[in-house]
Parts: sequence; C-alpha cells; structure tokens
Amino acid sequence: MALILGIESSCDETAAALVDSDGTVRAHKLARQEAAHRPYGGVVPEIAARAHVEMIGPLVEAALDEAGVTLDQVDAIAATAGPGLIGGVMVGLVTGKALALASGRPLIAINHLEGHGLSPRLAERDLEFPYLLLLVSGGHCQLLLVEGVGAYRRLATTIDDAAGEAFDKTAKLLGLGFPGGPAVEKAAEHGNPRAVPLPRPLVGSGEPHFSFAGLKSAVARAVGQHSAQDIAASFQQAVVDCLVDRTRIALAKVRPTALVVAGGVAANSAVRTALESLAAENDLRFVAPPLWLCTDNAAMIAWAGAERFAAGLTDPLDVPARPRWPLDPDAEKVRGAGVKA
Ligand code: KG4
Ligand code: ZN
Repeated sequence: MALILGIESSCDETAAALVDSDGTVRAHKLARQEAAHRPYGGVVPEIAARAHVEMIGPLVEAALDEAGVTLDQVDAIAATAGPGLIGGVMVGLVTGKALALASGRPLIAINHLEGHGLSPRLAERDLEFPYLLLLVSGGHCQLLLVEGVGAYRRLATTIDDAAGEAFDKTAKLLGLGFPGGPAVEKAAEHGNPRAVPLPRPLVGSGEPHFSFAGLKSAVARAVGQHSAQDIAASFQQAVVDCLVDRTRIALAKVRPTALVVAGGVAANSAVRTALESLAAENDLRFVAPPLWLCTDNAAMIAWAGAERFAAGLTDPLDVPARPRWPLDPDAEKVRGAGVKA
C-alpha cells in the first residue's frame, strides 16, 4: 500500500489531499478563491497565483493533520504540472518539488486533465479500461478513449469554447454572477427549456467535435427578449443536446467498458441525467464521480499519482510547469481548435 500526497493549483482552487493506493481518501482540503475573483467576473491569473502562495502550505499541513500522518509516511508527492494558469501551476509544482526534496520521496508530475480523467476509477474502483470519457470543464471539452494510465486517445475536442466557459459566459450575460455553471443550473430550474430557440452547433456532423461560440452569441441576442430563467433553461438544454449528440457519435466509433463523465460541468444534474440515459440506450455502464470529485480538487491528483506510482512512473525534480499540455500528443489538429491544451 502506498500513500500519495496530491497538490492542485492550476486554476482558482488550491487543494491538498492524501489518498491510499487502494483508493481510500485519507484527507482532502480545498480553498476556493471565488470571492477574490467575483468582482472581475472571471479568474484573474495574478490574483490566483498570489492566493495559491498563501494557501498551499497551510492546506498541505491541514491534510497531513487530518490523515494523522507526517511527511515521512508519504510514499510519493503528486503535483499538477499543467495545463492551466502558469503562475498557479508553478506554485503547486514548486511546493511539490520542495516537499519531494525535503522528504527524499519521488515527485510525480500530473497532467490536470489526467487527474479528471482517472477520477472515475477513484470513485468506482472496479472501472476497467478502456472507457469513453467526456471531459467537460471550464477550459476543456473533449471526448477521450482512456485505454490505460498515460494512454489517452482523443476522439474530439472543441473548435472554440469549452462547455464550462459557455456556462460562465451565459451567466455573465444574464447577470447571474460567478462562477457561472451552478448559477445557470439554479436559474434553469425555474425556466422553460423550450422557450428560447437556440442553435445546437455541429449537431449531426460525422466527427464528434464540439462548438459553443455560436450558442453564446445566440444567448447574447436573447437577453432582454426573454426571462433570465427561460434563457438559462434553454441554454442548458442546448448544451445537453450537443453533449449527448456528440457523445453518441463517438460511441459509434469505439467499444468502451463504460461511458464516463468528468470535469466541473459533470456537476450539472441535467448533463448527468442525459448522459446516463445515453449510456443505458447503449447498454453501457455509466460512471459520474461525486460532485466534489468533479470540480477541481487534489484527491484526483493524488489518485492519478497513485496510478502512476503503481506503474513505476515518477518524474525528475526539474520537470517543467506547462501552460499547455495535451493528453493525447498525437491528436490531429482541428480547425479552430488548438488554442486550448
Ligand atoms: O473542472 P473545473 O472545476 O475547473 C477546470 O478545470 O476548468 O470546472 C469548472 C467549470 C466552470 O466553467 C464551471 O462554471 C463549471 O465547471 N461548472 C458547472 C457546474 N458546476 C461547475 N457547469 C454547469 N453546471 C454546474 N452545476
Ligand atoms: Zn479541472
């Protein structure tokens, strides 16, 4: 049994966690920066980096305390090394390097997307490769065939915005505040999903790529013409329709053991419910990690570290922080895409 310390700081959550190689989460600590960024309506990289510097040390200590262990009882240190806001990534990675150096334990550099991608195996320990992963977060919208630890085949990506980004921009247009996803979901509860005619970009096309920029523009045009609740509900329904249609196309191309959804947008219950039906339609197991494991956290980083450690994969202390870091380096470039890792 190995005990892994995980560190996450790639966006606006600072987090530290301790996870056993059998999947027991011994501790997970997290500090959100929402209040600091709210006045700006989005994450400000400089503010995020400073907040990570202040929070990371105390959070690591709190996680060790909660688990009742000291640093020398930890077998390896896993830290997010990208992709993300580079200032924040550097804070967490440098902290991981310092702790690895001080303790003499190996460092494991984790791709944040791999953290999301393997988190379903922490949630359900008997989930086997290969599974089809819909990774939907603030920065990413991808369909990946997860074939093993470190083996990810990208089937689709977004040619413009990520799904979470579309939620955040819609929230901003509707004056619902930040972060947008949960606010739009809440407003949608009281709205009519058929009230506002909105486009479903790329739906019906043969490759399972995504596009959300046109949807966002249509939302902007609807503001003032309909209630915020109706726009929120109609927008959410449009996103759900896009995600389901694109995932259905991908499912026709591969033979996975399960359909899995991860990333912050997987916290949305309309998204979860629709994908669950799609999985049932295809006689596939459906896995969605619990909400706290869907949004950014360090338990998923520690878990990805545990999977890598078990495979004998560790990294040198000079491993770089990377603002961009594609999970599948062989994936073909898609027109309009490539701006996001
Ligand atoms: O994975 P995550 O925590 O951070 C990134 O790596 O991006 O995802 C954050 C994204 C944000 O865009 C947020 O608005 C969205 O996930 N999100 C949601 C919900 N909760 C978070 N989107 C829709 N519905 C939600 N309930
Ligand atoms: Zn994330």
